[in-house]
Amino acid sequence: MCGIVGITVKEKNKLKDKSLGKTLASLLKMLEYRGYDSVGIAVISDGNIIIRKARGKIDEVSSKVIFSEIDGLTGIGHTRWATHGPPSDENAHPHTDCKGTLALVHNGIIKNFYIIKKDLQKKGHSFKSETDTEVMAHLIEDKLYKSNSKVFLETLKEALDEIEGSYAFAIIYKNEPNRIYFAKKLSPLIIGVGKDVNLVASDIPAVLSYTNHIIPLRDGEYGWITPNEIVIKYGDEIVDFTSRIKTIDWNVENVSKAGYPHFMLKEIYEQPLSLRETFFGLQSDPNIERITERLVDSEKIYITGAGTSFHAGLVFRYFLSKLGGRSSFPFISSEYSQVSEEIGEKDILVAISQSGETIDTLTAVRSFKINGSGIVSISNVLESAIPRESNYAIYMRAGPEIGVAATKTYLTQVLTLTYIAIQYAHIAGRLTDSEYRDHLNILSKASEITESSIRISEPLVKMYAKDLKSSKSMYILGRGLGSILALEAALKVKEIDYIHAEAYPAGESKHGPIALVEPGFPVFFIFTLNHRKELIGNIKEMRSREGIIYVSTPTADMIRENTLDSRILNIASYHSEILEPYAHIPAYQLLSYYISVENGHDPDKPRNLAKTVTVE
Ligand code: G6P
Repeated sequence: MCGIVGITVKEKNKLKDKSLGKTLASLLKMLEYRGYDSVGIAVISDGNIIIRKARGKIDEVSSKVIFSEIDGLTGIGHTRWATHGPPSDENAHPHTDCKGTLALVHNGIIKNFYIIKKDLQKKGHSFKSETDTEVMAHLIEDKLYKSNSKVFLETLKEALDEIEGSYAFAIIYKNEPNRIYFAKKLSPLIIGVGKDVNLVASDIPAVLSYTNHIIPLRDGEYGWITPNEIVIKYGDEIVDFTSRIKTIDWNVENVSKAGYPHFMLKEIYEQPLSLRETFFGLQSDPNIERITERLVDSEKIYITGAGTSFHAGLVFRYFLSKLGGRSSFPFISSEYSQVSEEIGEKDILVAISQSGETIDTLTAVRSFKINGSGIVSISNVLESAIPRESNYAIYMRAGPEIGVAATKTYLTQVLTLTYIAIQYAHIAGRLTDSEYRDHLNILSKASEITESSIRISEPLVKMYAKDLKSSKSMYILGRGLGSILALEAALKVKEIDYIHAEAYPAGESKHGPIALVEPGFPVFFIFTLNHRKELIGNIKEMRSREGIIYVSTPTADMIRENTLDSRILNIASYHSEILEPYAHIPAYQLLSYYISVENGHDPDKPRNLAKTVTVE
């Protein structure tokens, strides 16, 4: 998991920072969410390749190795999340060949690197790192110098044909100082198309300060850019990409912190807007009707995703059953082999992934496709791998999410999937026309419910975060939909706060988990509209073991009357189960955020985690 970037400009005045080194560091900042254990850049300067790199986050490394003093017109950069070889100065990218004639950055995994490395070592190549990536630099070198007549692009293709696995590469070559070569297979890569400036990058935010025109590259494509030219090849053919240039309506403001101390807080606050845009987008999406009909006609509906996206999938299962009367089968994407034997042509898989690039989910999609299943994907990233491989793609309009913990992408996924469940119920004849309109009208309130929950809960959450910051463990419980929302609430606390937070249906306490509850043990309850009587019973059960009880609810009086000293986490009022995710979840997102801040952690970059996991 890494972020790569490359930029080539015609003249120095095209750079927005005062040197190329500084420019690369700013572009890499936009990709830091993809990995942040080491950073490096390589530029062509006065006919030589200069590489600076080290272990650490971008700002630390940037001042340690002084990126800003390196200048030039063409350069590449990398931010790393280690897979092969631990984080270290040597393992940081870019990597180079024996003679230092080329430098390259890579996102992905070269599966057969060890065999190639052994072979190259026998031929006399000497390696400086433990990475899989470095073999590519030596492999190109080896091929390049076997025959002097070969052009670099042909050599690159030959090397690509030899490696197995996934890659996005950006490569600079000393003899062609204004070019960046690139190649893509399975790992994401886009070209940013500017005027007298072109870029390559793992993701859109890295190019937005230069251009909002992009070309999402497809698997198997490779080629080169100069400040004024783009050449894309597939096999031996030149690709005509003119109709593939897309205009992105995100701007740099969207991807910077806009005055918030952290992206996570900014993104929590952006939810009302994202939900509104997602709702409007769904209403004008011509695909929805066709997708819903396909779901109604299908034999079995499977639902998959990883992490937060899987939790959104469980909400879909819930509403598809409650509203549409339809059973479906959710599974965590990395566990696809548990169900893939059962798939037939009449089945459909709903694949949920905010990034559209999670390898586990992509692999599940591919395995279902092989067995003939139709694929519907829900994603936040235009033209990413999973939507591209689906029969139908629905995009949320959450805007870019930089914080590693999913916030606005979760609620927009939930809204999108609930919208589909309502459409399903209508087409399947379970909702009359007027009930259907009423349900959509209720769902259209998701945005304002979220806004008021953020406003109402934030002061209390800040207070509770102080009490909870030293907790080692907590339970987050609910019943029905509440037990599903609890899973996402607990995941936030685990990811950002490093506290063991466990979610399970409240009725299960007596079957085991209550054994852990001793005086002072924090237990949260998601107090939903349904199952109130039983929930009150569960609260009392925990209170009698002297657990400290927190209850997220719009009806504080009811809780106080029945359970005396519970701590209330007030949220927005709502009158339909459809709105429960938007009322409860923001309070838990804020809770995890403020506990992290209280403990002095960085909520945007939790340890050991990456935003998009493109390795199995
Ligand atoms: C990673 C992230 C999670 C995310 C999961 C699925 O593990 O840290 O926050 O939920 O991937 O990502 P996706 O992009 O497929 O929704």
